[in-house]
Amino acid sequence: MVKVLLIVTFWSHITWAVKGSSHCKQTDPEEIRPHSVTVTEFGAVGDGVTLNTKAFQNAIFYLNSFADKGGAKLFVPAGRWLTGSFDLISHLTLWLDKDAVILGSKNPDDWPVVDPLPSYGQGRELPGGRHRSLIYGCNLTDVIITGDNGTIDGQGSVWWNWFRSKTLDSTRPHLVELMNSTGVVISNLNFLNSPFWTIHPVYCSRVTVQNVTILAPLDSPNTDGIDPDSSDDVCIEDCYISTGDDLIAIKSGWDEYGISLARPSTNIFIHRLTGHNRNGSGIAIGSEMSGGVSEVHAENLYFFDSSTAFIIKTAPGRGGYVRNIYISDVTLSGVDTALRFNSNFSEHPDEFYDPNALPVIERITVKDVKGDNIKFAGLLNGIEGDSFRHLCLLNITLNVTSESPWNCSYIQGYSALVFPETCEPLNESIYPKHYSDCYHISTHLHSSARCHLSKGMMADIRSLLD
Ligand SMILES: *[C@@H]1O[C@H](CO)[C@@H](O)[C@H](O)[C@H]1NC(C)=O
Ligand SMILES: *[C@@H]1O[C@H](CO)[C@@H](O)[C@H](O)[C@H]1NC(C)=O
Ligand SMILES: *[C@@H]1O[C@H](CO)[C@@H](O)[C@H](O)[C@H]1NC(C)=O
Ligand SMILES: *[C@@H]1O[C@H](CO)[C@@H](O)[C@H](O)[C@H]1NC(C)=O
Ligand SMILES: *[C@@H]1O[C@H](CO)[C@@H](O)[C@H](O)[C@H]1NC(C)=O
Ligand SMILES: *[C@@H]1O[C@H](CO)[C@@H](O)[C@H](O)[C@H]1NC(C)=O
Ligand SMILES: *[C@@H]1O[C@H](CO)[C@@H](O)[C@H](O)[C@H]1NC(C)=O
Ligand SMILES: *[C@@H]1O[C@H](CO)[C@@H](O)[C@H](O)[C@H]1NC(C)=O
Ligand SMILES: *[C@@H]1O[C@H](CO)[C@@H](O)[C@H](O)[C@H]1NC(C)=O
Ligand SMILES: *[C@@H]1O[C@H](CO)[C@@H](O)[C@H](O)[C@H]1NC(C)=O
Repeated sequence: MVKVLLIVTFWSHITWAVKGSSHCKQTDPEEIRPHSVTVTEFGAVGDGVTLNTKAFQNAIFYLNSFADKGGAKLFVPAGRWLTGSFDLISHLTLWLDKDAVILGSKNPDDWPVVDPLPSYGQGRELPGGRHRSLIYGCNLTDVIITGDNGTIDGQGSVWWNWFRSKTLDSTRPHLVELMNSTGVVISNLNFLNSPFWTIHPVYCSRVTVQNVTILAPLDSPNTDGIDPDSSDDVCIEDCYISTGDDLIAIKSGWDEYGISLARPSTNIFIHRLTGHNRNGSGIAIGSEMSGGVSEVHAENLYFFDSSTAFIIKTAPGRGGYVRNIYISDVTLSGVDTALRFNSNFSEHPDEFYDPNALPVIERITVKDVKGDNIKFAGLLNGIEGDSFRHLCLLNITLNVTSESPWNCSYIQGYSALVFPETCEPLNESIYPKHYSDCYHISTHLHSSARCHLSKGMMADIRSLLD
């Protein structure tokens, strides 16, 4: 026990040294674009009634001629700017002033139906295509959506009602979707009432989402906050999210379509996330994870009055993998389930999925978690005959109300300093034998130690570990 405490003390000392500053390598959202226009120059009227789709489209069409001259800025002043779906272009900054509100049209014809994503095979909710997002971009580089705390409001309640009454013909639209794009920054804005997922980067690289507030009613259906999907180098920082479903859901395609496209989500960084939900989770991986999810680092999380804090959702038929996941520095208050593996998400795109395609789930580290008023510490159910292994739990203290706080099946892993005492499949100690089986614990210690610790301290740690 003394050994363990010593190591853990070194550990927290080391990680502390890298906290506090921005972790996102970002394009400067204040970057001066040499050309700027205001949407009113193209006939837009900010009365909340006039439909401004054409004005947005015309302004952006005009700005396209500046794409190879350093790019351009479209300025949206204070006002209520009703619009249907419009497309962004490369080297564009969409800038919403204080008290500027972009409002999504309540007419579904203003959100045209487009092809399904190749990694989903069909719309996520219904066969066929899907409505295009309010703000959409495809094949772009260097796109910035920012401002001075302006608001993009999807007015999604009409869509939630059509969803509930089952009167939709196609899958609901996202509020913002960037597809196959590189160098995307979304910052300093409010995103409200998305019809479906709020911010959806799919097949993207180098995406930063920073300092945004995302809100939707706690009972609104599937209004996820940020869903990085088959995307890499995604950095999400300083966000507040309160919605009807997952605050962040990391995805990579659905069953046989995701398996065949094989585009993973990897290098996903999440820092300083606060939020709550009543029918979702703080951070989810899946349930669509068929292209694989790896290298997810989430730190400094605070979830309150929520259903679940961290969940991996999967099912037989998904295939793919979830590996090398590191969650640390988590504070929970009033959360039903702190950790969950749910392997029973048995919605499939069609009957052609392969029930023998089992997901591989491995090297998941969760450490430095404290929580009050928690019902279940861990409901961790794998799949019989499948591999859910090297789940490592370290320094977790939860004040639980349930008499059986853990329920584990078909999983394997290790733990240290966990209260209440873990379930039997995880009760073998991480130290000293298994620390190298745990993601990040050894690699992080060794690489950071090189920067921050003296040789003498390194030797001390090595001798403790050996
Ligand atoms: C993605 O964009 C790149 C460059 O813009 C293009 O070459 C590629 O074909 C696009 N892929 C898809 C699936 O649209
Ligand atoms: C994206 O690029 C691909 C490949 O060049 C092309 O087929 C597709 O039409 C482009 N999509 C858009 C919306 O420009
Ligand atoms: C975060 O956004 C708010 C407006 O929403 C702004 O006042 C503040 O300066 C931003 N913070 C940073 C660090 O950019
Ligand atoms: C940003 O806007 C939201 C919603 O209008 C408001 O509640 C919040 O106080 C604003 N924050 C700042 C820093 O102006
Ligand atoms: C919670 O979400 C699930 C899955 O989306 C849905 O079936 C259920 O009706 C939702 N429950 C509530 C209370 O909204
Ligand atoms: C999986 O879900 C189905 C229906 O949603 C349910 O009948 C079944 O009992 C669940 N299985 C497990 C192992 O929870
Ligand atoms: C355990 O985690 C808490 C945060 O929940 C942290 O404050 C504490 O320093 C950690 N303890 C050790 C021994 O690292
Ligand atoms: C757990 O919560 C109960 C009720 O809020 C409180 O009375 C108790 O002191 C807490 N225990 C710990 C160890 O924090
Ligand atoms: C775990 O959950 C299953 C299904 O809900 C239940 O049948 C089983 O009794 C539980 N096991 C423990 C040890 O609580
Ligand atoms: C783990 O649990 C099993 C079964 O309850 C028990 O026999 C074993 O001693 C435990 N191991 C540790 C290290 O606590």
